[in-house]
Amino acid sequence: MTSTNDIRRSFLDYFGSEGHRVVPSAPLVPHNDPTLMFTNAGMVPFKNVFTGLETRPYSTATSSQKCVRAGGKHNDLDNVGYTARHHTFFEMLGNFSFGDYFKERAIGLAWNLITREWGISADRLTVTVYHTDDEAYDLWRKIAGLPESRIIRIPTSDNFWAMGDTGPCGPCSEIFFDHGDHIPGGPPGSPDEDGDRFVEIWNLVFMQYEQVDKETRVDLPKPSIDTGMGLERIAAVLQGVHDNYDTDTFKALIAASGELTRSDTAGPMKASHRVIADHLRASGFLVADGVLPANEGRGYVLRRIMRRAMRHAHLLGASEPLMYRLVPALVAEMGVAYPELVRAQPLIEETLKLEETRFRQTLANGLRLLDEATGAMKPGDTLPGAVAFKLYDTFGFPYDLTEDALRAQDLAVDRAGFDEAMAEQKRKAREAWKGSGEKASDEIWFDIAEEFGSTEFTGYVSHEGEGQVLAIVKDGARIDSASAGDAVTIVTNQTPFYGESGGQAGDAGTIDNDAGFHAVVGDTSKPLGRLQAHQARIESGTVKVGDAVHLSVDVERRSRLRANHSATHLLHAALRNRLGGHVTQKGSLVAADRLRFDFSHPKAMSPAEIAAVEADVNAHIRANDDVTTRLMTPDEAIAAGAMALFGEKYGEEVRVLSMGQGGDADSSYSVELCGGTHVSALGDIALFKIVSESAVSSGVRRIEALTGEAARQWLTQREDRLKEAAAALKASPEEVPQRVASLIEDRRRLERELAEARKALALGGGGAKSEAAGPEHVNGIAFIGQVIEGLDPKGLRGLVDDAKKRLGSGVAVLVAVNDGRASVAVGVTPDLVASHDAVALVKRAVATLGGQGGGGRPDMAQGGGPDGGQALAAIQDVKAALGGVPAEA
Ligand code: SER
Repeated sequence: MTSTNDIRRSFLDYFGSEGHRVVPSAPLVPHNDPTLMFTNAGMVPFKNVFTGLETRPYSTATSSQKCVRAGGKHNDLDNVGYTARHHTFFEMLGNFSFGDYFKERAIGLAWNLITREWGISADRLTVTVYHTDDEAYDLWRKIAGLPESRIIRIPTSDNFWAMGDTGPCGPCSEIFFDHGDHIPGGPPGSPDEDGDRFVEIWNLVFMQYEQVDKETRVDLPKPSIDTGMGLERIAAVLQGVHDNYDTDTFKALIAASGELTRSDTAGPMKASHRVIADHLRASGFLVADGVLPANEGRGYVLRRIMRRAMRHAHLLGASEPLMYRLVPALVAEMGVAYPELVRAQPLIEETLKLEETRFRQTLANGLRLLDEATGAMKPGDTLPGAVAFKLYDTFGFPYDLTEDALRAQDLAVDRAGFDEAMAEQKRKAREAWKGSGEKASDEIWFDIAEEFGSTEFTGYVSHEGEGQVLAIVKDGARIDSASAGDAVTIVTNQTPFYGESGGQAGDAGTIDNDAGFHAVVGDTSKPLGRLQAHQARIESGTVKVGDAVHLSVDVERRSRLRANHSATHLLHAALRNRLGGHVTQKGSLVAADRLRFDFSHPKAMSPAEIAAVEADVNAHIRANDDVTTRLMTPDEAIAAGAMALFGEKYGEEVRVLSMGQGGDADSSYSVELCGGTHVSALGDIALFKIVSESAVSSGVRRIEALTGEAARQWLTQREDRLKEAAAALKASPEEVPQRVASLIEDRRRLERELAEARKALALGGGGAKSEAAGPEHVNGIAFIGQVIEGLDPKGLRGLVDDAKKRLGSGVAVLVAVNDGRASVAVGVTPDLVASHDAVALVKRAVATLGGQGGGGRPDMAQGGGPDGGQALAAIQDVKAALGGVPAEA
């Protein structure tokens, strides 16, 4: 038997040897088409190559493309498990010509592969052509030699393939395999064509046109080829089975679920095993391509697929989570062709386990409610929408899971009633919203969120991507279009731009399109916590609601944000390690140019503590460990050691960021709940430098720090200052501390010497201007009067005290003159205070010095005046007051 893996390989090898570039599968989340939920055909990654927007270094290609058809335009979810050929995930084999060959070679290559290389008998093949496509008709006659009866002209859209409402399109020709007359069904175009006997195995699309909008269809630059062959179908043909689920890959997956649940895979539970096998593939591949379960958008499609499978696991009697235990079988079957599956295996297992653990908590109760509600119903009845809504809202049953659960009893669900209940709940949420208090602007965001759901954030994995403009807001009102000069807020269905939240600043960048529209995004906000709103200034062109646009985040700025955010986590961990478990985050700011972290700690950090924290963070940066992200329930995250942020509200699941090696082999240095963007390996932070540590309020400290280039520049500036200082000191930078220390020591010594010298002068040394060097007697009172130039007035009091001591009994007057100003102090020994008041005496001196007042105690008083030239006169005045000499006029 030829295995599915061999068939894929043989297809790619065949076209490779025919000169086609073998191109790896693009991811399931399309990068080039914002209107598409998932890649759903082999040509999707080449869409812009067909239309000429993009060029590649090859003109023919072949691929095996991962596809998902669940949600969006093509949705096969409802049928999966109950038919032979419906899948949510499948692989499309294809060959492509971008203006190289056209119909003749496409038909020739296809016919040769299936009939000669793979040996399928021509007798079992029938083809169709678009009814007006005579050229294809003639080519099939010529190349395949098919009789006219087996080249069927089809006049319907079945034979005119279009990617969607817009995009490349053209007539097509399909190849059908006849599984034999034991299976009911007629050839294509016949009344019973829907039977299973004739199965389309290959679609050759003759891409000729581009549907630009509803009315306009233009020629492609060059006629091209896009073919698509479902790998699962051709595997069934080549393995001689009729049912895709009987091929090797599916058989292996189904055997695994049979074994783990000990249930018969061919009996009445057959459909459940098929659902599980199919949904396991879809879930595994979606998670590997970065989709995680969520309540909106792609994540919700994944959740629906997962939960649908999980209900079937429950039907099979699985007593514990089943899906994650099937992942090894999936990886064994498909990991060789898709290495991303191997890489993501732990994440896939963990995501499935988490989802199933959580869902099992409500699944049984929900099913009980469903049983009660349907107990009295007969086949053909309809379950009220309100019940389906309660199952959705309280028990986490996606709508289609309820439908699927009722299918066996032939019961329907009232969709309109379900939608109505949903609308009512949204209305209540709007009423309850406190929001920013600006009612008008909140209303706008509510309207947009209700109309379109949350913005899908694609920026964890990419910096750019396509988006469709959903709303444009200008001056608080929604508008349909905006043009050059306008400052507007633009909301798209998906965006790589991070809206400001959790302390991390919003992204900046550009939005543009090929029609000349170009806008600069200065900031991105996150209204209602679920829309990403780009604050944009339009520089050229026009943008309209509905337009597809290209969004590019300023990568350089985002890298700095990532580094600063990851460094903040490391800083938090280092602080707890060094200072203790009482350290908790009190606030943080992650900007592009710096980071700030506030934390509880009772006192200032010592320089040694700051240095140690900085060294710890840098050691982890140098170790360059990968940063890992996991989705968990908040409880699990806390059990895993995540630092919970009290007062924060989390949704059903949280992102848990782990960084660095912890104390033992399997613990992480930092584990935090975080929705922000981070480096993928710690080495990307490059360098971490604390630039300040300060108090915010009692018990709360703040660290400001820099990373990467900003840290390097800061250090360079510091070094420049050091060099300048060294130059001034005429020393090398290394000598600066010692030179400064000795300068300070010199200065202290000089100051000391100067003070001593002044004191010596004041106490009678030569040079002081004085009435008399020693005490004289004035009216029988011992008296010292001196003027001291340049004496610090603070020293006056001490000198007067000294003089009083020397006098034993007497009066001392000292005047210090500095820069022309005079300060005067008068001291009177205690025995004389009854007759001579120092305050009265100093007032006289002050008046002579041109000042006012003067005061103190009877034994010691001080004052001063602007007129230093009158210093000697002031002393004379005091003497006069003692009755020694007459006061001068
Ligand atoms: N685009 C076509 C299809 O999806 C052929 O690849 O069927």
